[in-house]
Amino acid sequence: MPSNRAAWLTAKQARPLEVSDAPMPELKPGHVIIETKAIGINPVDAMIQQTGMIAEHYPSVPYQVIMGLDGAGMVYAVADDVTHVKAGDRVLAFTDGDAISGRQRGTFQAYFLAQARYVALLPAQVSFTDGAVLPSCLVVAATSLFDPKCLGLDLPPVRGRASANGKVVVIWAGGSVVGSCAVQLAKLAGYEVFTTSSVHNFEYCRNLGADEVFDYKESNVVPSILAAVNKTGKQCVGAFGAYLGTDKLCAELIRQLPSSSGHSNIVATVMPEGYGFSVPEGWPENVECRFLLTESERMTWLWREWLSIALEDKTWKCQPDAEVVGKGLEFLQEGMDRWSKGVSAKKIVVEV
Ligand SMILES: NC(=O)c1ccc[n+]([C@@H]2O[C@H](COP(=O)([O-])OP(=O)(O)OC[C@H]3O[C@@H](n4cnc5c(N)ncnc54)[C@H](OP(=O)(O)O)[C@@H]3O)[C@@H](O)[C@H]2O)c1
Repeated sequence: MPSNRAAWLTAKQARPLEVSDAPMPELKPGHVIIETKAIGINPVDAMIQQTGMIAEHYPSVPYQVIMGLDGAGMVYAVADDVTHVKAGDRVLAFTDGDAISGRQRGTFQAYFLAQARYVALLPAQVSFTDGAVLPSCLVVAATSLFDPKCLGLDLPPVRGRASANGKVVVIWAGGSVVGSCAVQLAKLAGYEVFTTSSVHNFEYCRNLGADEVFDYKESNVVPSILAAVNKTGKQCVGAFGAYLGTDKLCAELIRQLPSSSGHSNIVATVMPEGYGFSVPEGWPENVECRFLLTESERMTWLWREWLSIALEDKTWKCQPDAEVVGKGLEFLQEGMDRWSKGVSAKKIVVEV
């Protein structure tokens, strides 16, 4: 059996991460062990280290944490009940890192464990680095758009794109990784997509499929989007705030759309349910706030039935581009520090 190494968060707010030996993950039914080739950095990784939030949520748990939600690599071992991948396959994977117990065991290690339902084959033409851009952000975007308890939009077809359905969706923060996934998904599902970004990302958002892009730094951004939606004469199926804190502007927009015209009154957020988030203060009464679900059958469908085919057929682009900060677990601290300095339409990736 190979030996494992991990980049450990050894204490509350400790830095840098300490790279040292780690136990080999234990294979459980319904799970896959993956030899890590590339790791995507997420905002929550940096936040866990900076804020010490695990210590606050799980004060009784000894502090030895392996962070990381996103990974790509080679399947090392699969449980007997897993049939869609086998040892040696190239895959991308999302792992919640077993976060519920407070003893996270995520992707910041040479071998990681993932639930089989969040493991998808990575076609030969897609690099591990590009594959590591997607996992958790695709999960967040797909759940928010498609789950009936969130926006409940139509799913994209397994192959190709749906024909235009005459409906508009607003996705705030098209330059974020989550927003980039949401813009592409909504477009493939047949919606007209309005999004927001900095001006330098307008072209990037259009290339993803956005029909109109608005500068969120403009003070009149909400009235501008409102006027554009009204001009289409189409039904608006809701808004998704794809960056923390952007949901309130989405709500302000949705509030002003008359429900008598068939517009939705729902705003989906990236605030996960069950983590102590509440509806933001001053939220308009006539607008529904939908938290991000931790479980969604629609998202499972996307991973099992759709993702590998969309990557193989090139209907799906691994966007934004990865910015690789280095090769080796030692670079994970640098990766988080790089994200903390600010990113714009980029995913920070560490190769392993
Ligand atoms: N629950 C989960 O498992 C999970 C997983 C992943 C992400 N998330 C959450 O999802 C959100 C997005 O994550 P991410 O990785 O996609 O972030 P990211 O790519 O690191 O976010 C940076 C981007 O956000 C855009 N942005 C920032 N503030 C904005 C605003 N006020 N309006 C419009 N755009 C804005 C910027 O766009 P410009 O460059 O165009 O200015 C920038 O490109 C975060 O809040 C994160 O915590 C949750």
